[in-house]
Amino acid sequence: MEDKKTIFSGVQPSGNITLGNYLGAIKNWVSLQEEYNCIYAMMDMHAITVRQNPQELRRRTLDLLKIYIACGIDPEKSLLFVQSHVGAHAQLAWVLNCYTYMGELSRMTQFKDKSTKHADNINAGLFTYPVLMAADILLYQADLVPVGKDQMQHIEITRDIAERFNSIYCKEGNPVFKVPKGFMPKSGAKVMSLAEPTKKMSKSDENPKAYISLLDDFGVMVNKIKSAVTDSEGKIEYRPDDEGKAGINNLLTIMAAVTGNTEEKIASEYAGCGYGDFKKAVAEAVVEELRPIRARYDELSKSKDYLEELCRTGAERADYIASKTLKKVYKKLGFLI
Ligand code: TRP
Repeated sequence: MEDKKTIFSGVQPSGNITLGNYLGAIKNWVSLQEEYNCIYAMMDMHAITVRQNPQELRRRTLDLLKIYIACGIDPEKSLLFVQSHVGAHAQLAWVLNCYTYMGELSRMTQFKDKSTKHADNINAGLFTYPVLMAADILLYQADLVPVGKDQMQHIEITRDIAERFNSIYCKEGNPVFKVPKGFMPKSGAKVMSLAEPTKKMSKSDENPKAYISLLDDFGVMVNKIKSAVTDSEGKIEYRPDDEGKAGINNLLTIMAAVTGNTEEKIASEYAGCGYGDFKKAVAEAVVEELRPIRARYDELSKSKDYLEELCRTGAERADYIASKTLKKVYKKLGFLI
């Protein structure tokens, strides 16, 4: 355990976990478990930067834990916990706020996007969201953070904050924070919206036809894939998105991620096939991939005690690691401890 590198990542329980979250992130996290010391959290504190319904947030946080496990994250191998259960996240975030510049934060594209989308609620939490994310990562001395492209900017600012703090307080060496690296696993598929295939599939999309929730009825999934936006050319070819192929490319990507083949290979396999038949094949492959996950999810839904126990022990283990880092930080700052 000691000589393994540490991986930290997490998902916000802010919507229905989608096929995009699974194929782009969680599926890869499963394979990282052997080689790394993995920590995966449920980011409920980030979720409240936009308004959440309390009952739903509670349910979704537990759903996310069940989904992590059902997808193959083994709580014996990886550390799973709920962000708000570990006080050090908020504590370190406050400290790091004092080491982050307004100018840096105003450059974050996610802040710009979200404040346009939620113009009636541009709160300070939305602005300092990347600082909380930096705290998440730095508390665990993570080496690597697997994320999608949209989060890379947040990893960059995390690195800047860590380096800044280290350079002020740790001139003699022995840095307080490990400077983490973001990485996008090569096999991580970027799944796009089924309704607007030039946009990322998002769990907070208002149009439920745009995404596939891992918890959708299988029949609903099949229908969503069947009604996915494509083009009128009728040719299954893996060509640039801007040649009108974004929709077909997305289906190829989904099929590739599920089967472990490349998009090119799938395209040649289905060349000459009609879109209707291809969509049917993609839908079948997705359902078969998700069927065992759903079965494990349903099984876990019966074990509320087990899940609560996991949350409790996860929080304890996380707290132990996080407190050590926080204590070092407080000492460097001159807080009386
Ligand atoms: N912001 C990430 C997302 O929306 C979730 C997240 C919060 C995260 N804290 C993190 C991811 C720390 C990686 C590491 O996808």
